[in-house]
Amino acid sequence: MKLKILLVPGDGIGSEVTQEAVRVLEHVTRKFGHELETSSALLGGVAIHKTGSPFPDDTRAKCLEADATLMGAVGLPEFDNWPPEKRPERGLLGIRNAMGVYANLRPVRSYKALLDSSPLKNDRIDGTDMIIVRELLGGVYYGQPRGISGSGPEERGTNTMTYTRAEIERVTRMAFHLARGRRKKVTSVDKSNVLEVSQLWRRVVTEVAPEFPDVVLDHLLVDNCAMQLVLNPKRFDVVLMENMFGDILSDEGAVLAGSIGMLPSASIGDKKPSGAWVGLYEPVHGSAPDIAGQNKANPLGAIGSVAAMLEYSFGLKKEADAVANAMEHVLNSGAVTADLGGKATTEQVGKSVCEAI
Ligand code: NAD
Ligand code: IPM
Ligand code: MN
Repeated sequence: MKLKILLVPGDGIGSEVTQEAVRVLEHVTRKFGHELETSSALLGGVAIHKTGSPFPDDTRAKCLEADATLMGAVGLPEFDNWPPEKRPERGLLGIRNAMGVYANLRPVRSYKALLDSSPLKNDRIDGTDMIIVRELLGGVYYGQPRGISGSGPEERGTNTMTYTRAEIERVTRMAFHLARGRRKKVTSVDKSNVLEVSQLWRRVVTEVAPEFPDVVLDHLLVDNCAMQLVLNPKRFDVVLMENMFGDILSDEGAVLAGSIGMLPSASIGDKKPSGAWVGLYEPVHGSAPDIAGQNKANPLGAIGSVAAMLEYSFGLKKEADAVANAMEHVLNSGAVTADLGGKATTEQVGKSVCEAI
C-alpha cells in the first residue's frame, strides 16, 4: 500500500516527538512492505514566525491532499499574551476545522508496567480501558458571538457554547460505532442540570441510541464524571462529550494511565470515497516549553498516534498492533523517559520501539 502522509511537527517538544513517531512510521512501513511518501508543513508558532499566520494556506492545501496528517503540538510562551485569533493554538483549531475532523478519540488504558506511575492506587487503575470521544468542531471553541468588548467595569468577555442537532448526531454515531467493537457501553457526559446546550445534547444522544440496540447508554453530569474518573475509572468504556469537557477530562484521563506523554489521539472526519476515514493524528499533550529542546519528552503519545493512523486511516491493523506491542515491550523494559521515572531520552525510546518491531 502507498501511504501519503503530511507531517506537521509544530512547536516545542512537538518536533522532538514527531521525529521519533516518523522513525517508527518509516520502520514499520518498510518492514511490512508499504511505500511511504511524506511531506511537511508549518503550523502554530513556527508558522507565525515564517509566514505571519498560525495556519498558512500551504498547510491547508497539503492537509486536504494527504491521505492522513501527523501533528506534534503547538504553542510558544512568547505568544501567551496575544489575542486568541493570532495565537499558535488557533492554527490547530484551523487545521481541525479545514479537515472536518469532528470526533477526537482519546484512548485511556492502564499498562501493567506503569501502575506505579499512576497517581491512583494500583488496584483502582489496573484494568482501566476507556476511550474518550470528544466532539472537536463545535461548542464554545467555535461558537459565535465571541470576543472582548467595552471598557472599565463594563469590559466584557464573551464565548458561546452552541451545538446543532446534526453536530451532536454525527459524533454520537461515531461513539456508538466504536462501542460496538468494545464492551458495548456509552457514557454521555453533559451539564444538563444547568445548560440548555447540554439538555439538547442529552436528548439527541438518547434519540440516536436506539439505532444501536446492542449498546447500553448512560448519562453522567460532567462534575460527577471528573470524580468518577478517579474513583472508579474501570466503569467507563466509551465516554462521549462535547469539545471543552473533552479537553479537560482527557488530560485527567491521560495522567491516570501514568503520564500525559502517553496519550495518543485520532481526530476523525467522514469517510473518503476510498472507504478510509479522514484523519489527523496528534498526541494529547502540548508543546511543554518547560522541557523543550532537552531530548527528554516522552514520544509514546506521538508513536501511539502512528498506530492509530495505521488502523483508522489505512485499515492496517497488523501494522498498528506491531507498533502497540513494541510500545508495551519498551514500557516493560523500563527504558522509559523521566515522566515515567526512567532515564531514557526521547530518541532512545523511538529507537527501542523500532528495534522491538
Ligand atoms: P503541556 O501538555 O504542554 O504540558 C503540561 C505538563 O506535562 C508539563 O509539565 C510538561 O512538561 C508535561 N508534558 C507534556 N507532554 C509531555 C511529554 N510528552 N513527555 C513528558 N512530559 C510531558 O501543557 P501546558 O504546559 O498547559 O501547555 C503548553 C503549551 O502547549 C501551551 O501553549 C498550550 O496552549 C499548548 N498545548 C498544545 C496542545 C496541542 O498542540 N495539542 C495541547 C495542549 C497544550
Ligand atoms: C488539546 C489542546 C488544544 C485544545 C489547544 C492547544 C487548542 O489542549 O488538543 O487538547 O484545546 O483542543
Ligand atoms: Mn488539551
